[in-house]
Amino acid sequence: MAVEPSLEDITRLCISRGFAFPSGRIYGGLAGFFDYGPLGAEMRLEVLNDWWYYFVRSRDDIVGIHGCIITHPRTWEASGHVESFIDYLVSCKKCGAEYRADHLLEDVGVEVTELTSEFLTKAIKENGVKCPKCGGELGDPVPFNLMFTTYVGPKQTKANLAYLRPETAQLIFTNFKDTHITARLKLPFGVAQVGRAFRNEISPRNFTFRAREFEQMEIEYFVNPKKLDDCPYWDEVRGLELNLLTAEMQERGVKEAKRVTIEEAYDSGAITTKWHAYWVAESLRWLTRIGLREDRLRAREHVKTELAHYAVQTFDIEYKFSFMGWKEIEGISNRSDYDLRRHQEYSGKDMGIHDDGEKVIPYVIEPSFGLDRVILALITDAYRVIGDRRVLSLHPRVAPIKVGVYPLVTKEPFVSKAREVYRLLKTRFTALYDEKGSIGRRYARADEAGVPFGVTIDGQTFEDSTVTLRFRDTREQIRVRIEELPTKIAQLIENWGSGG
Ligand code: GAP
Repeated sequence: MAVEPSLEDITRLCISRGFAFPSGRIYGGLAGFFDYGPLGAEMRLEVLNDWWYYFVRSRDDIVGIHGCIITHPRTWEASGHVESFIDYLVSCKKCGAEYRADHLLEDVGVEVTELTSEFLTKAIKENGVKCPKCGGELGDPVPFNLMFTTYVGPKQTKANLAYLRPETAQLIFTNFKDTHITARLKLPFGVAQVGRAFRNEISPRNFTFRAREFEQMEIEYFVNPKKLDDCPYWDEVRGLELNLLTAEMQERGVKEAKRVTIEEAYDSGAITTKWHAYWVAESLRWLTRIGLREDRLRAREHVKTELAHYAVQTFDIEYKFSFMGWKEIEGISNRSDYDLRRHQEYSGKDMGIHDDGEKVIPYVIEPSFGLDRVILALITDAYRVIGDRRVLSLHPRVAPIKVGVYPLVTKEPFVSKAREVYRLLKTRFTALYDEKGSIGRRYARADEAGVPFGVTIDGQTFEDSTVTLRFRDTREQIRVRIEELPTKIAQLIENWGSGG
């Protein structure tokens, strides 16, 4: 049975099973910072490796880079982050508690349709919003820049001021020409990057969902501005169905997404370019490939007042979390030529490249995933209570441990044989060996850790060299010859969910 886990259920599971811990927990934790434990560290790698495989290695038109966390400070002036990367901070006049103004209003049911100081001030006053902690009067919301600052070199002077990157994207833009030349790329092409990003969020919350240090998986896909509808992969995605909530629908007060095909979304003008529509489709294809339920995903367009300073049109891919409703796990923006033009202006370096005999500054479509949010969505989505068992029904592609190996009884020759099978499987898959407690308890521990397959060495193993292969979700067991196990498990992972 699929249950609707609460935030406490997810937090408890993550901490008790070693997926994620509040960072600095022995000192009470540092708000907005999280560390991955043994299972989380493996799962993080599985998700990002699959992302890299799907979007970079399996394609011919995307290459990867790996940029610095601290880069030239002019980057952030050019990108507009120094000026515009702000949220509104509101403080209690009585107890000094600080809140993010739009979140505070949303928490008391006020719809925030504009992110301006004037709108937020008026909304707080008109709705009589008070400090949730002490009931005190609130001051006026003031803009607060989210970038963390630091100093490069020993002197803490203005000249040495630098920023921890708030998005990985800018490193792709500043390296644009070098990447284009060295990888001998021709438009259209993409550059991908995975790495840490930092935002001094006013109110980090919902466990890892809104953190101050997190990880992004981003692609900047460069297209000739005259060819935004010239997508050679269109036939692969045009028939894909999605749940779409446009800005126009939201402005009419519509809350539920409508079911359309990608082609209908483009033909109706809801998604204004084919390349943008293509990247919405590809994102959904990857998110379902790693196991997220399709009916829990939707593409929601940003209304005008939500758009980032660089964006022409943005769709958030939102996942319906059981404990907080629809929330963004990925943003897909049409950033136009904004970033490359700004870097050209601020650096004085030409950002144009040749395409079809003319020089162009490409447009950019940007799929930007939050790795930690994808992981949180996967864990929430996979949380099940089946009878008296708690099962993390993760897709094996992202399960931190693929297979558990167990001797039915903890004595020879079962233990030696089980260790031999474990060593065999460990060369191909993340595996665990467990001989502690009853076999039922061992299965239960593995189920909670999301281990999709269990291999048990029993009496029959010594007669015909077979073992039982147990399936986490159904508890079904089949017998498999030991030598066939690696191929069998690899096939099961590849064909998971397709009835294979
Ligand atoms: N380069 C575009 C960009 O950074 P964004 O919508 O601000 O766009 C992209 O961020 C993704 O990064 C989001 O969809 C989300 O998954 C993740 N993200 C943003 N802020 C985050 C935070 N405070 N904690 C965790 N993930 C965050």
